[in-house]
Amino acid sequence: MADTHVTNALETAFPLTNVTEVVPISKRQRKKLIKLEQWEIKKKEKRLKEKEKMRQRKLKAVQNGLPVRNGPSRKELKRNKVDYSKSGITVAVDLSFGGMMMDKDVAKCVKQLLRIYTMNRRSEMPIPLHFTGIQPEGVIEKHLKRNDGYQHWDVKFSSESFLSLFDKQKLIYLTSESDNVLTELEKDHVYVIGGLVDHNQHKGHCHTLANKMGIRHARLPLSEHIVIKTRTILTINQVFEILMKIQLGKKWQETLLEVLPKRKGAKPLASESDQIEKNEPEETLVVEQHETS
Ligand SMILES: C[S@@+](CC[C@H](N)C(=O)[O-])C[C@H]1O[C@@H](n2cnc3c(N)ncnc32)[C@H](O)[C@@H]1O
Repeated sequence: MADTHVTNALETAFPLTNVTEVVPISKRQRKKLIKLEQWEIKKKEKRLKEKEKMRQRKLKAVQNGLPVRNGPSRKELKRNKVDYSKSGITVAVDLSFGGMMMDKDVAKCVKQLLRIYTMNRRSEMPIPLHFTGIQPEGVIEKHLKRNDGYQHWDVKFSSESFLSLFDKQKLIYLTSESDNVLTELEKDHVYVIGGLVDHNQHKGHCHTLANKMGIRHARLPLSEHIVIKTRTILTINQVFEILMKIQLGKKWQETLLEVLPKRKGAKPLASESDQIEKNEPEETLVVEQHETS
């Protein structure tokens, strides 16, 4: 009902002929304008609702004698800048797979990059973030350009491979096919996430690549902490979120249960003995070893 009302008002605002400038507007352009305007209106309404919710929350806190704010606000967090000179972990997303993806998967991949960037921006401790291997004028760049001002994101973009940007000894390629289990994050190390959205079409591709490059690789410790019915291949942004939370000091199990979507049906591992049994066939290490396969 409200939408019809808005649409009517917009139709009046955008008639097929723009009378003031006597420039005819095509039906398609008009539809686009209406959609854009509707989106703007909805955005404003959403902002107002959020503000009101926040106001009520503060009021309740004051009435109950509670401190109004415990930490930095979302706005303050957004102003956080990544300190690239800090000696924590670094994350590089390997974006050299543009040619292996269908256009709609490149779009999904870039959407996941946007999520990573937003998440990092709002973190109390943003991680130095590199998007590497972006082919100039390639499909990844084409889709990145659809996000206005992406060049100003607090991210280091590079057309070069992570191999030439970082010390090889400090690189750890994350891949679900690895036999090495990541148990903790090592300071000064660069964790590489494969920027490949492939619906399992190129299974094991990044694992093979890491072996060929002679760099260390590791998988996330999923079966060590949770029981999961579905595939253990996660999306780029899920992997990043897990790293971010672990870096902030959260425990693996809590983090995995928080990050994995409900539909994956992840449950905490029943007991320690289950965990040991599960771990037996594989090597559990702090990815300290220098073997690559
Ligand atoms: C959608 S997956 C890409 C799968 C692709 N077939 C491959 O060869 O890696 C995106 C990336 O997330 C990371 N990833 C996903 N699940 C992971 C897991 N369980 N452990 C470690 N890394 C994982 C890997 O870096 C992977 O390249």
